[in-house]
Amino acid sequence: MGTLRQIVLAGNWKMHMTQAETRAYIDSFKPHLSNLHPARQVLLCVPFTDLTAALEATANSPIKIGAQNIHWEEKGAFTGEISAAMLSEMGVQFAIVGHSERREYFGETDETVNKRLLAAQAAGITPILCVGESKATRDAGKTEAWIVRQLDEDLVGVDQSNLIIAYEPIWAIGTGDTCDSGEANRIIGLIRSKLTHQDVPIQYGGSVKPANVDEIMSQPEIDGALVGGASLTPDGFARIVNYQV
Ligand code: PGA
Repeated sequence: MGTLRQIVLAGNWKMHMTQAETRAYIDSFKPHLSNLHPARQVLLCVPFTDLTAALEATANSPIKIGAQNIHWEEKGAFTGEISAAMLSEMGVQFAIVGHSERREYFGETDETVNKRLLAAQAAGITPILCVGESKATRDAGKTEAWIVRQLDEDLVGVDQSNLIIAYEPIWAIGTGDTCDSGEANRIIGLIRSKLTHQDVPIQYGGSVKPANVDEIMSQPEIDGALVGGASLTPDGFARIVNYQV
């Protein structure tokens, strides 16, 4: 039953916020968590350059900090990349893996997404695997097959007891065009039916905002949200993590 699964509300800041902005954000966000529901995990996935500031500012708070990507090699000649060991040493406990923007703009494939998931887990980091279909795939009636194939390829060898999945239909990301909550619930149920571990938290992502979070979170299969644009203001994200059902 859904009540046993962890609820995870994650902000994905993408390429936003300097260190000074990170400190100011967290200072004004923290007071909103004084009555946070105990079953809810709140997470901010910040740019690599903000990790130290974010970890310091959230110490002694319920907020966890995540990265937005992770490389699969332990070390080596990979200019511009960051390894799992570098992140875990800092105290980073989560990392987004396979976000559609990484797949679309930076050439990530299901094969490299799988390697990143394995590397994260080997370092004790919980990856948030993003899957989701494009508008063209949806219009062609191939959403289910697309998602199932992504899961098949991405999850090879992955430990499902240390995993979060985000269902993010690409056409709903940053567009204001939220997926119908019932439809998101249906696809998330499909994702769960393909897992061996039934307690994996499965989030919805794509234009989640204060005005629609209550409806989204009232769906039984949906265990949280991955929030881009609406996580950039402390007040807006506070309303999201304190959603009411
Ligand atoms: P959005 O982004 O909330 O701005 O649509 C979600 C995401 O890309 O994770």
